[in-house]
Amino acid sequence: EGNGGYDISALLKETGNATLDIGFVNTASCKSAITYIDGDAGILRYRGYPIDQLAENSSFLETSYLLIYGELPSAEQLEEFTTKIQRHTLLDENLKDLLAAFPRDAHPMSVLSAAVSALGTFYQDSLSITDQEQIELSTIRLLAKLPTIAAYAQKKQQGQPTLYPDNSLSYTDNFLRMTFGFPTEDYVVDPAVSRALDRLFILHADHEQNCSTSTVRLVGSGHANLFASISAGIHALSGPLHGGANAAVLEMLETIENDYDGDVDKFVEKVKNKEDGVKLMGFGHRVYKNYDPRAAIVKKSADEVLEKLGVDDPKLHMAMRLEEIALKDDYFVSRKLYPNVDFYTGIIYKAMGFPTEMFTVLFAIGRLPGWIAQWREMMSDPATKIGRPRQVYIGETERKYVAADER
Ligand code: ACO
Repeated sequence: EGNGGYDISALLKETGNATLDIGFVNTASCKSAITYIDGDAGILRYRGYPIDQLAENSSFLETSYLLIYGELPSAEQLEEFTTKIQRHTLLDENLKDLLAAFPRDAHPMSVLSAAVSALGTFYQDSLSITDQEQIELSTIRLLAKLPTIAAYAQKKQQGQPTLYPDNSLSYTDNFLRMTFGFPTEDYVVDPAVSRALDRLFILHADHEQNCSTSTVRLVGSGHANLFASISAGIHALSGPLHGGANAAVLEMLETIENDYDGDVDKFVEKVKNKEDGVKLMGFGHRVYKNYDPRAAIVKKSADEVLEKLGVDDPKLHMAMRLEEIALKDDYFVSRKLYPNVDFYTGIIYKAMGFPTEMFTVLFAIGRLPGWIAQWREMMSDPATKIGRPRQVYIGETERKYVAADER
């Protein structure tokens, strides 16, 4: 039943005793020493360090170093890493011409992925998957250029002049200036906003074998270069069930505000009845069956940022009400559905002034060091094999070809 009359166990035997695990719910695809998650206990650690300690004390570049090289850097190592990144923030002017050709309303995630893919044409001197110096150069180029590309995508969409990077600024300050500044005036970065965004980047920096990271690994397992693998990962992240959820949450809150007169309870009923397949965006997680530890930090950050910016967004109140209902309601409790990292991030990004379409781009900037670390770990592991899942064939048995005029 439900298998179209096919005996799936018999078919699995025919496939050399393969396992059918749709969505890889129960299949580990690799061994990894980068990120540890205990979904039942709500624990997340990068290279052994608890996420709350990193969010509180580290910077995004320091955390990136930790993920990629395995250890926290010394002050000297961090300075060297930062300087190398600062030297590579510019985009080739011809790459900018390429990006300028996209329609103004192009989604910035598509622009981001296309630009990263195009980096492979501009930097053919660092495409090797075995030469450590080249891998290092691609790593630095990606970390340095992604914020420049992201800021460029936002500026282009808004029809505003683009800014060159200012390498005297920190990674996140530089990104904020390129995104919100104008060539005609000095842009003063608000340190509270910069710290909050840097912290959000840390929270997103890795999450073991999620959809986009598995994509990066799968593409890389065929020995595709780092730019090609990351470009694929960006596309995987864009979907609303994955990174695109942060934009989908804000759209959901707008729907509740406009179509339900802000009546959160009424909307929750629709979700519970699974009407039109509506889900509570920003809720639920494949691995966390307890509160997502990142969501707790983001929620606190949302309160602080909104207060600092003097924003009283009714959407924050709606989000808190949604959470309150869901945490008590049997539908959500029995399915262990808790807010995930995306639930509150959109509210912060909106308060900072980012357009909704940029939210998932911000996620991508944060996730980049994780993707790079995972790709590098896979490439240096002699046990790595090309990723090639099997299937259970449930189509027609052998048929005889019939000519077109006889069909
Ligand atoms: N709202 C309402 N019901 C939900 C939700 C939700 N957000 N998420 C899961 N459910 C229900 C399902 O309908 C299913 O119910 P059933 O048992 O009656 O059939 C049950 O909970 C189990 O859900 P699955 O879809 O089997 O869980 P899965 O692990 O496959 O999906 C996912 C996880 C994709 C995150 C899902 O919870 C979801 O779609 N959430 C909303 C989108 C979202 O926030 N994505 C971001 C995830 S975090 C990240 O990528 C950064």
